Amino acid sequence: MIPTTAVIVAMAFGVAAVTAQSDPIAARQALMKTNGKQAKLGSDMIRGKVPFALDNAKAIFLSFIDAANKMPNLFPENSKTGGDTSAAPEIWANMDDFKARFAKLAADSKAALETVKDRESFTAAYRNVNRTCDGCHEHYRVKKS
Ligand code: HEC
Repeated sequence: MIPTTAVIVAMAFGVAAVTAQSDPIAARQALMKTNGKQAKLGSDMIRGKVPFALDNAKAIFLSFIDAANKMPNLFPENSKTGGDTSAAPEIWANMDDFKARFAKLAADSKAALETVKDRESFTAAYRNVNRTCDGCHEHYRVKKS
């Protein structure tokens, strides 16, 4: 169970690294898809659909940190459109705020690595981090029909 998760995460990171230079839209979507998978595991653990495991909890925050570190470099001027992106034009008008949100995601996830010990502390830390995900999406992601 735990090794499998680690392998999947490692594979997803690898894919993102290969495409980052040539295709920033695909790279940022791959990172965010990994975030989405990890977030699903997180909410399944909170709801008790999946048993709580500290290693999985830490892997979730580690993958959020990885994405938060790489994402700010994946929004060059020439990536505003194309590749089925749902990135909103507001990103390029508010780049400092946009990047600050990734910094907050990384900082809160790092703090969570220290504080999370059990399902209860995970739930609190995860909900806090998740607000940063949702807040950014509300401002900077176009809803696709
Ligand atoms: C600072 C902004 C920001 C933060 C923080 C953020 N996201 Fe995103 N997210 C985006 C943007 C922008 C896109 C659209 C990327 C594109 O299509 O080019 C996106 C797309 C996504 C997608 C869709 C990926 C796809 O293309 O299928 C998922 C899932 C996702 N984010 C999950 C998360 C989760 C989970 C978190 C928190 C751990 C998070 N995001 C944090 C900005 C953010």
